[in-house]
Amino acid sequence: MNDLAKANTYQVENRTDKSGKPIFHVTPPVGWMNDPNGFSVFQGKIHLFYQYHPYSDVWGPMHWGHCISEDFVKWEELPAALAPDTDYDAAGCFSGSAVETKDGHALIYTGVMEKDGAKETVQQQCLAIGDGIHYEKVSGNPVISAEQLPDGFSRADFRDPKVWRENETYYLVAGNKNEQQNGQVVLFESKDLKTWRYVSVLADNQGKYGRMWECPDFFLLGQKAVLVVSPQDMQADGAEFHNGNQAIALIGEIDRQSYRLQEEQIISLDYGTDFYAPQTLETEDGRRIMIAWMQSWDMNIKPVEQKWNGMMTIPRQLELRNNILYQQPVKELENYRTEPVVYTEREISGQCRIPGVRGRALDLAIELQEGDYQKFTIYFAKNEKYFSSFCYDRAAQSIEFDRTFSGMERDAVCQRSMKIKGAEKTLKLRFILDRFSVELFVNDGIQTFTSTFYTPLDAEDIVFACDKKAMVNIEKYTISLDGEKKEADLFEGV
Ligand code: FRU
Repeated sequence: MNDLAKANTYQVENRTDKSGKPIFHVTPPVGWMNDPNGFSVFQGKIHLFYQYHPYSDVWGPMHWGHCISEDFVKWEELPAALAPDTDYDAAGCFSGSAVETKDGHALIYTGVMEKDGAKETVQQQCLAIGDGIHYEKVSGNPVISAEQLPDGFSRADFRDPKVWRENETYYLVAGNKNEQQNGQVVLFESKDLKTWRYVSVLADNQGKYGRMWECPDFFLLGQKAVLVVSPQDMQADGAEFHNGNQAIALIGEIDRQSYRLQEEQIISLDYGTDFYAPQTLETEDGRRIMIAWMQSWDMNIKPVEQKWNGMMTIPRQLELRNNILYQQPVKELENYRTEPVVYTEREISGQCRIPGVRGRALDLAIELQEGDYQKFTIYFAKNEKYFSSFCYDRAAQSIEFDRTFSGMERDAVCQRSMKIKGAEKTLKLRFILDRFSVELFVNDGIQTFTSTFYTPLDAEDIVFACDKKAMVNIEKYTISLDGEKKEADLFEGV
């Protein structure tokens, strides 16, 4: 049996029980998952591949897992698409992307080779073409060899190609390091995906934004060009960046002569503990949708007995308005909202539960008006023993997350604060909860905060607390993929 067939047999025989897993967030059937790969539309369906090691719950020789969706919310498992089974990718099929072509669905990924007993690593870009289920690696691999890089550029750190087409030309960006060991993004072009020409360094980290730049993505949004990268080894800087791996966006103009990005803003894409390696696609109706790995390289906090490890974020629509980047959960999520509970101008003082507002798979929007209070806290995934929380501090204009009491057995980062940008009178918070994760969208998605917590599922209370008096509007829906819409359970102004 070849390596791919072996991985797929293992997947089928060891698939984990869905009942204890997130409901609408992608998880691996079994084993380990990291970055989203090959996020693309092919023959009208949405394909998502991911870094995959089915055989254990830790990172190992990288395969590409695969799933498919019609609406970004309901996903169907498919067989793994790639295994590390050739000389040029024996040490792993690392991250990459996909594009629809007239010859089929093209996957471009990084083939990793280790030489001299792993003392030397070479990373190069490889191509596989398929029909949406089965993929064949092409005979000309690697299609971009490390030798094609200019002198001094790293051959060991040259990975994560993101490809797109503009008219008759394919472009590709990949992460790389320059001679000074600083992260940079290199740009290539091709007419046929097989023969590539080096074009430029699109951007580099200026010795400031971490070291290696992983998983680049580049696209036009509104009137601007956006480069998304995931730097390693960042250092905390004010309220914008935390230590370690994170995902950032460089927003600016592209100079078509030099093919260099002239960045005007560099921002964090998410302020939580678990968000990395995002990748985007463009839908047929022109929306730019981003998905990310909802985990941190530095924290493995899942319970030891859990045989799957890793989740993806909810796919998010990106928009640029007045030069501000907004993220919103895909609108398709609204088709799975049931059991609406709505309150307008509800007064909250002290601690309270609110009838109908509880659960672990929710779309919950809260609008907080100004008042004389200082702190407003929302506790969720709560029972007598466990909870996680967000606390809004009005004076500091910050939101602090806390998962200290979420049932974690590791001494991982449990608290993180974000500084609220802008000075809106009403604070809008939208929480997407899916059992083991929370994604908070602040003020229509100007900022997001994504974190995981593996709290036992029977902790499903939500408690509000305010040190004085706050007036809030609440709109809560349960998210259910069951199909049948449940009877509306409407509490108006109770
Ligand atoms: C990012 C990353 C990529 C690499 C992959 C390996 O999380 O380190 O740079 O291709 O993971 O699994």
